[in-house]
Amino acid sequence: MRVLIVGSGGREHALAWAIAKSPLLTKLYVAPGNPGTAAIAENVPLRTVDIAGIVAFAKDQKIDLVVPGPEAPLVGGIADALLEAGIACFGPSQAAAALEGSKIFTKQVADAAGIPTARWEKFSDAETAHAYVEAAGAPIVVKADGLAAGKGVVVAMTLDEAHEAITAIMEDKVHGAAGAEVVIEQCLVGEEISVFALCDGEEALFFGAAADHKRVGEGDTGPNTGGMGAIFNPPWATEDVIRRGMEEIVRPALKEMKNRGTPFRGFLFAGLMVEADGPKLIEFNVRFGDPECETILPMLESDLLAVLRAAVAGELADVRVAWRTGGSATVVMCAKGYPGAYATGSEIYGLEEAGCLPDVTIFHAGTMAEQEGVLANGGRVLAVNAIGTDLSVALARAYEAIDRLDWEDGFCRRDIGRRALRALHA
Ligand code: AMP
Ligand code: GLY
Repeated sequence: MRVLIVGSGGREHALAWAIAKSPLLTKLYVAPGNPGTAAIAENVPLRTVDIAGIVAFAKDQKIDLVVPGPEAPLVGGIADALLEAGIACFGPSQAAAALEGSKIFTKQVADAAGIPTARWEKFSDAETAHAYVEAAGAPIVVKADGLAAGKGVVVAMTLDEAHEAITAIMEDKVHGAAGAEVVIEQCLVGEEISVFALCDGEEALFFGAAADHKRVGEGDTGPNTGGMGAIFNPPWATEDVIRRGMEEIVRPALKEMKNRGTPFRGFLFAGLMVEADGPKLIEFNVRFGDPECETILPMLESDLLAVLRAAVAGELADVRVAWRTGGSATVVMCAKGYPGAYATGSEIYGLEEAGCLPDVTIFHAGTMAEQEGVLANGGRVLAVNAIGTDLSVALARAYEAIDRLDWEDGFCRRDIGRRALRALHA
């Protein structure tokens, strides 16, 4: 099969790394890719949101399957455009991608399908929103309806913070049109998990669970980021939680989307809060998570490309996937300053030596190549994954690899997986 992956981050490097191992593969392209994908595939200089360019390239190169990584091209309609051109795409239509593009839409789907989630109200008028939080009290959660680069959610611990969030989103329009409407919802309490399902419109196949570490600082402090690290199967993702997540959240959503005439195909990412009485939906994303993807795929024993081929053929019902036993952990190396302003262009040394450690894989996220070297070129720069007989072995290996890297302008959290290890040893 001739395959094209769309994106340039650690997630896309991991997808390319897994697909490159498939005996079904004859040619692999990544658009635009990064120096990591360049080593295992052919990078194509097309921007992820250049849908017309990507469709033209896919037609020209007789691509059999396109796998978009990030949400932007999906929300922009890349799957529809490819389908129209007769090219298979493992990703949702623009209509189905509204599950990530609009928080109001997601809540409406959840309510219609009877999915457990935080009680919510929507507002298009700031004054009414202020009055509502005043009456409801804190803690309370304020969310811009549209895509806001992961920054549109404020978990307000006090009423002042809630009012500030409403003012920033609705009056100061810090997220532009994405904040024209807001969702205000009940604050859920518990441990979070990211649950993934491969969907073919009808069937959902569980595809791993992970815990992300969203805050930039150790001890879960500081501002939110795209994700500072992840661990496979945290202890609070019990078999019962996963079963209920699939039965009470993922499958009802899939059925509701089908009933609406917009069946969901692709990676469905359910962000769940595990509360005392069971998992609750926080949000859906319509793609694989990053760095969850870099954490889950190293545990996959089955052929990813074969599974994706079955999914686009609508044959997921016949598919079983095999997973390794043990632990997997990913630690993200970022440029100093991230998630605020950061510099690019500093050289990273020691990548080869660190990447040679057993059971370690270094995925490139925001890098660029220069002559023989690799330079930082983003906020999240590397995703260092290790697997092992259990989580503590995996974590120790990931940090050993990081310690072999020599990159002055980089930093990482040193406490990835610590809460999980504590829970395991409690
Ligand atoms: P995102 O939408 O990915 O930017 O992230 C939102 C984050 O805010 C989630 O990962 C949670 O940590 C938090 N969050 C969102 N909704 C709620 C809620 N209803 N209760 C508690 N935390 C929430
Ligand atoms: N790591 C969370 C995300 O991909 O949105």
